[in-house]
Amino acid sequence: MSTAVKVEHLSKEYRLGVIGNGSLWKDIQSWTAKLQGKPDPWTKINEESRIGKRERFWALKDINFEVQQGERLGIIGRNGAGKSTLLKILSQITAPTEGVVKMRGHVASLLEVGTGFHPEFTGRENIYLNGAILGMSKADIDRNFDEIVAFSEIEPEFIDTPVKRYSSGMYVRLAFAVAAHLNSEILIADEVLAVGDVKFQEKCLGKMKEVSEKQGRTVLFVSHNIGAVRQLCQTGALLDHGKLLMLDNVDKVADEYAKLIGQ
Ligand SMILES: Nc1ncnc2c1ncn2[C@@H]1O[C@H](COP(=O)(O)OP(=O)(O)O)[C@@H](O)[C@H]1O
Ligand SMILES: [Mg+2]
Repeated sequence: MSTAVKVEHLSKEYRLGVIGNGSLWKDIQSWTAKLQGKPDPWTKINEESRIGKRERFWALKDINFEVQQGERLGIIGRNGAGKSTLLKILSQITAPTEGVVKMRGHVASLLEVGTGFHPEFTGRENIYLNGAILGMSKADIDRNFDEIVAFSEIEPEFIDTPVKRYSSGMYVRLAFAVAAHLNSEILIADEVLAVGDVKFQEKCLGKMKEVSEKQGRTVLFVSHNIGAVRQLCQTGALLDHGKLLMLDNVDKVADEYAKLIGQ
């Protein structure tokens, strides 16, 4: 087996906005003092000027793990644990503050926010656009086109409609079909199954398992549906407050998560 994803000392720091004094007038006085080089009149004891100070926090801190080619990894954790931040870094939507990510192959991502599709383009155009981004030739995409549309269950008359007119369910179905059928060695899915009906969710889980078993594609999967994570993945990664608490067999990790949330 070869390594498909390797993450080393990965950290992501977010900066939040300026923290004010609780009233606009006090903020103006503080800013005026700062501009005049005077001490901030609203400084609290044991504190430097609050103006211009930005709150920072680590959404991810010192994450290390490896995923083997063809492996299906489920990333589990409470809201705000850092799951989406990790997948965004792996999808190269955002850059890490520290650390490195090494990946072998193209990545197809389905993130919470509908990235990857252009709203003004039709379903058909988006299929070709995504294929081109993944380095496929037109002939390659042509060969997969009918299967993508069939999988998505989008009515044929909608395929030439701009995707901004799609319902959220249609949008996700097409996005999933594209990601699953186009050439990408690594498939990333963040909470995609939250939209769409149960039948389609089952179909997606089946498809992800199939592409990993038959084509050796690596799957990184985030879902609040722990049953779905157990069903699809072999390995689990438990994130909490930006830290990787556990990386092990998916059932062990899901049990640990249940303890963490007190169930
Ligand atoms: N663009 C951003 N700017 C500032 N903070 C962010 C941003 N994106 C996410 N966060 C914060 O980072 C933390 C991790 O968020 P996220 O990765 O979305 O968690 P999860 O997907 O596990 O719910 C949360 O506290 C969230 O509010
Ligand atoms: Mg998230």
